[in-house]
Amino acid sequence: MSRYLLAIDQGTTSSRAIIFDAHGELVALAQQEFRQYFPKDGWVEHDASEIWDSTLSVCREALRRCGAEPADLVGIGITNQRETTVIWDRESGKPIHKAIVWQDRRTASVCTKLRQDGHEALVVERSGLLIDPYFSATKIAWLLDNVEGARARAEAGELAFGTIDSWLLWNLTAGAHHRTDATNASRTALFNIHKQAWDPELLRLFRVPEALLPEVLDCAADFGVTDGRLFGGPVRIAGVAGDQQAALIGQACFEPGMAKTTYGTGCFLVLNTGSNAVRSENRLLTTVAYRLKGQTSYAIEGSIFVAGAAMQWLRDGLRLISDASESQSYASQVGANNSVYMVPAFTGLGAPHWDPNARGAIFGLTRDTGIGEIVTAGLQSVCYQTKDLVRAIRNDGARIESLRVDGGMAVNDWVMQFLADILNVPVDRPRVTETTALGAAYLAGLQTGVFESVDDIAALWAREREFRSEMKPALRESLYAGWLDAVERVCNS
Ligand code: G3P
Repeated sequence: MSRYLLAIDQGTTSSRAIIFDAHGELVALAQQEFRQYFPKDGWVEHDASEIWDSTLSVCREALRRCGAEPADLVGIGITNQRETTVIWDRESGKPIHKAIVWQDRRTASVCTKLRQDGHEALVVERSGLLIDPYFSATKIAWLLDNVEGARARAEAGELAFGTIDSWLLWNLTAGAHHRTDATNASRTALFNIHKQAWDPELLRLFRVPEALLPEVLDCAADFGVTDGRLFGGPVRIAGVAGDQQAALIGQACFEPGMAKTTYGTGCFLVLNTGSNAVRSENRLLTTVAYRLKGQTSYAIEGSIFVAGAAMQWLRDGLRLISDASESQSYASQVGANNSVYMVPAFTGLGAPHWDPNARGAIFGLTRDTGIGEIVTAGLQSVCYQTKDLVRAIRNDGARIESLRVDGGMAVNDWVMQFLADILNVPVDRPRVTETTALGAAYLAGLQTGVFESVDDIAALWAREREFRSEMKPALRESLYAGWLDAVERVCNS
């Protein structure tokens, strides 16, 4: 019998299942993209049933590719796109509406009103977040107010709310468990991150009935056992964390001061601050990094809504490239000194600007601008946005000595070099860049005794390559000044 860990990585554009061995080595992977729905400007939805179907099918496929039986799996770890909001009927298990995705801006005016009415201080103090459509709270209220009869049914305890982890757990356990973990709870704006409990005042403010909410567990915990019919035998679900927190764990950033950025659909910089819930003065978020054995570690997070999604748009929207990997050769030809800027504010701007009404733009076009300059500007926008976050973190008094990177774009050498150049901070790329899934597997491994402690996990981290700045300071400054100018032009508030 083998000792494998199965990580479910349910992301914004695809569902993945990855099987790791007890040394954190990848054994098998299966991935499936699913449909994105854009019903109106700034609205983004998923069909929660498609999410579940694709997740189940990639799990089965990964098991098949690995040649493993359920009995070979020590445990399952779930990691997921965070904040995305599903409400379902407890009786039938059917969602009452499409899921409202984290990128969705439909509640922007509700958020503006809540801010104008002076509620932001309470939300920041209790949840560590800001008032923004990004988080689940206003999405839940929108569903309760817009689906006929939903509010009354929620109050009567007939409905359940969950972020994607809860939705998957419910389905994996055939409706036996309605649970989440502390990291996912910390992204709803309803959870008191200091008391580690749902906050009655926040529930009142956002008009969310408590009867909707899942039980909150540690990240490594006994979440339930899969329904034996799904995989031909039961498997323990032993770890859950939101994808950015899972990546922090996969990158073994366990010491205060350690930071990672993950380049997926969006880009998220997370800095471990240990047992201190540090409050940002520069519009970054305070969030739960992980909770293990009842001990909470906190993090500061900078959230950028569009990173890989910009490449997807260049590929599928503009059709300038047929594969994201082509971008590297365009960028190598154009070079870093590109005077075209793309601000990919397709769904507004996240940290540190938080402008839900901003929209994207391309600046600096001339007669000799070609595909290469525009594609390069798309890549550079991801690095400039990371610099916005690093600057905000520095202004908060924290130091970033080096940055661990992962996610799809981290494999692009040109982007990683430009990132090190523009940040003037060493960029560390690990040997395994599937760190989000790895983090989920590690959590399941901690709970099932594969790993004794986080020290065992930290010992497995290995660097593949370090990128160091080679750029002259004057060029760095002038390129970044051009970016700041471009961002200012798209901001409305
Ligand atoms: O907060 C949203 C985040 O969890 C989504 O991550 O990897 O799908 O860009 P990703």
